[in-house]
Amino acid sequence: MSIRSIMVVAGTRPEAIKLAPAFWWLEKLGVDYVFVWSGQHYDYELSRVFFEQLKLPEPAVDLDVRSGTHAEQSAKIMMGLEKALDKYKPTVVVAQGDTNTVVAAALTAAKKLVPFAHVEAGLRSWDRTMPEEINRIVADAVAHLCFAPTALAAVNLMHEGVPISRIHITGNTIVDVIHSYRDIASEEGEKMLKELGLQPHSYVLVTIHRQENTDNPERLQSLVKAFAKISRRVPVVFPAHPRTVNRLRGLDLLESLKDVRMLKPLGYFQFLGLLRYAAIVLTDSGGVQEEACLLKIPTLTLRYNTERPETVMAGINRLVGTEEERIVTATFDALERREEIIKHAKNCEEFLGRGDAGQKIAKTLADANVEVPTADTRTDPYITYAILNAPTPNCGNCEIVAMYDETGLAVEDVTKAKKYLIRGPLTELLKWLR
Ligand code: UD1
Ligand code: UDP
Repeated sequence: MSIRSIMVVAGTRPEAIKLAPAFWWLEKLGVDYVFVWSGQHYDYELSRVFFEQLKLPEPAVDLDVRSGTHAEQSAKIMMGLEKALDKYKPTVVVAQGDTNTVVAAALTAAKKLVPFAHVEAGLRSWDRTMPEEINRIVADAVAHLCFAPTALAAVNLMHEGVPISRIHITGNTIVDVIHSYRDIASEEGEKMLKELGLQPHSYVLVTIHRQENTDNPERLQSLVKAFAKISRRVPVVFPAHPRTVNRLRGLDLLESLKDVRMLKPLGYFQFLGLLRYAAIVLTDSGGVQEEACLLKIPTLTLRYNTERPETVMAGINRLVGTEEERIVTATFDALERREEIIKHAKNCEEFLGRGDAGQKIAKTLADANVEVPTADTRTDPYITYAILNAPTPNCGNCEIVAMYDETGLAVEDVTKAKKYLIRGPLTELLKWLR
């Protein structure tokens, strides 16, 4: 069935930012859509400011679910979305990223037999203690269309059994956003620097908000000690997520950060401006790792893994974990070697995309033939997997799941494929193996 109407679901800061290019293109292509905001983020600084700056449409529905435990938040979103699906009857539901809003949208759509499309599919940190990793895995598992931002993300999906016919490599929409707003961000950044009395490339920008960093008092204390130490030698600017401020306050840690320039969460242009002029950035954010990569700002990621390995491969991002001394040493090392790091860093657009992700996503959504799930009435008793030297064009029920070059390395590009991992009925596959 071709797509007639799209329901776009979002609910947090990064989703508002990263879905903007998809909205721009849905509008340009005249595709019918309805926008549902879950209200997981509700403060002006975490929601509305992005609607205004990035020209998002007004949501038709605001579920206004607000904060809660993972189960409470996801369940409330699911209950609200179920009603919205009944009312608007979209032919596809789209969501971006790895938040509770996304997993709730994916599950609700799947249970209502409405095809689900996942933007930023296939990212994996390989750490299932991260709530976001569970959200990504579940969303991809039930998605009918997986918009993988990079080749590595596509390869991850293949190895979780997502047939390649469902995977579309689009690039990351954050590249489109940066292309559109780089100049405005520079202007806003200059204004911010004036206000804060800072010189370009003379300060360290910090953001942290991850559950594993903020809800673990030992880790949070270690991070705070590191920021305090760094701030004695170089200005540190820290626009803080409300979650982080709450935890810092709860542990009486705000006083230890007296030399750090603590700011409220910033609007997008203001934040991107501060990032653009930072000497380096210390972050546990996913989106900030990508933006810093694109703006060539050396990055120390305050985590032990990243679902954005491309930024590390590009030579601009380093995982430094959360131990105080390691962070301090890595910070002063990065400040000293800043020019060298930048000089040797690769162009991140090679890894993250060229700025046409929004267009690709909107066009695919407009043109795709998405099957409404139906019960499997085949009588072949088994589905199994086999590696073949060629695809199986005449095997109606077979699907290509992954492709490899002659060395055995997984490839996402069909022109490089020499071997194919196929899923299909045992009897059919046996014919091809003999
Ligand atoms: C969520 C996402 C995380 C994403 C981040 C983007 C999940 C599991 N986590 O984390 O992946 O990186 O958004 O910023 O979905 N709060 C406010 N005002 C708001 C929103 C939140 O004060 O507008 C405070 C509340 O105290 C709330 C806490 O922040 O309890 C955490 O909010 P929540 O939505 O649960 O998760 P985030 O940490 O924002
Ligand atoms: N951001 C912002 N203002 C801030 C901090 C971050 O606009 O004060 C933007 C940042 O540019 C990036 C996005 O928020 O695009 C990242 O959101 P966050 O770090 O909350 O979530 P994550 O990307 O880790 O899911």
